[in-house]
Amino acid sequence: MSIGTWLDWGTDQLAKAKVPAPVLEAQLLLSQALRIKKLDLFLKKEKEVLKKELACFRKYIALRCRRIPASYILKSAQFYGLDLFIDQGVLIPRPETELLVEETLKTVAGRGRPADVLVAGSLVAGKLKKIKIIEIGVGSGAVVVALAKNINQAGILGTDISAKALRLARKNIKMHKVEKQVKLFRGSLFAKLRKKFDLIISNPPYLNEKDFWKLQPEVGFEPKAALYGGKDGLDFYRKIIPQVRYYLQPGGILAFEIGCGQAKKIKQMLEKEKIFSSIEVKKDYSGIERIIIGRNR
Ligand SMILES: C[S@@+](CC[C@H](N)C(=O)[O-])C[C@H]1O[C@@H](n2cnc3c(N)ncnc32)[C@H](O)[C@@H]1O
Repeated sequence: MSIGTWLDWGTDQLAKAKVPAPVLEAQLLLSQALRIKKLDLFLKKEKEVLKKELACFRKYIALRCRRIPASYILKSAQFYGLDLFIDQGVLIPRPETELLVEETLKTVAGRGRPADVLVAGSLVAGKLKKIKIIEIGVGSGAVVVALAKNINQAGILGTDISAKALRLARKNIKMHKVEKQVKLFRGSLFAKLRKKFDLIISNPPYLNEKDFWKLQPEVGFEPKAALYGGKDGLDFYRKIIPQVRYYLQPGGILAFEIGCGQAKKIKQMLEKEKIFSSIEVKKDYSGIERIIIGRNR
C-alpha cells in the first residue's frame, strides 16, 4: 500500500486511541519511519511503503497508541532550533521553556546588543569577560545547550539530582560541541557551591497536586521529580529564592519558568528578598504568565 494510505491508517489508529492531534502525529511518525521530510509524504503519496519501513511505522503507531510521547518513541526533540537526544526518565523540553531562553537572552543582551556583550560589567578593559551561568535542573540539557550556542562567552554550570538526566545532557552537550562552555555536576539546587553567577536560570518542577493528577496520559511517562513542585507547586521557589542572594553577582539576572497562576506569589517571594532592582513577568503565547526575571541591584 502507498504512503498516503498508510498515513490515513495511522491517523485513524491514533484518533481511536484519543491521541491529541492525530494527523500531525501520524505525519511525524511516518516521516521518521521512512526517513523523509514531512512534505515528501504528500509529494510521494502514491509511492509504495517497503516492508521494513512499514514494520517500523506500525511499531511507532502501537507505542503512540499506548500514549507514549513521540519524543520518547523517536528519542529526539527539537528545542530552540536544535535537535536533541531524548530518553524516557528525562523531561521532554517544552515550547514554554524556549520562551525562558528567549526572554533570558533578551535580558542578558540589554537593548538590542548581541547576547555576549553585556551582562552587568562583562566588558572589562575592552576584553569580554566570561559570563558565569548556572542552571538548576538541567534535565535533557536543552537550556544549557541553547544558552551556550547563543552566548559565546558563557561559562555554564548545570546541576541536576538525576543521574539519567545528566547522562543525557552530557550527550546533547557533546552532540552540539559545547563541552568547553558547559560543565555538569550532580547535586541538589546550589549544592555547596562557593561561586557567584551573572545568571541563575531554572525551570524547576512546578506542578501543584491538583494539576499533577489532571495531566494527559503522556505526561505519566515523564519523571515525577521533574514535574511535581509540592502541594501548591511552589516548593522549589521557596528553597531556591532565599539562597539566590549568596550566588548572584551584583547586576546579575535570575530567570525562572513558572506555572500558571504562580506569578503573584513568586514575585512576592522575590520582593521579600530586597535584592532586586527590577522584577518582570512575561506571558507565553497562550497569555499565561510564564517567565519571571529579576535583576540584582
Ligand atoms: C522541569 S525539569 C527541567 C528540565 C530542563 N531544564 C528543561 O527545561 O527541559 C526540572 C529538572 O529539575 C531536576 N530537579 C528536581 N529536583 C532538583 C533539585 N533539588 N536540584 C537540582 N535539580 C532538581 C529534575 O530532575 C528535572 O531534570
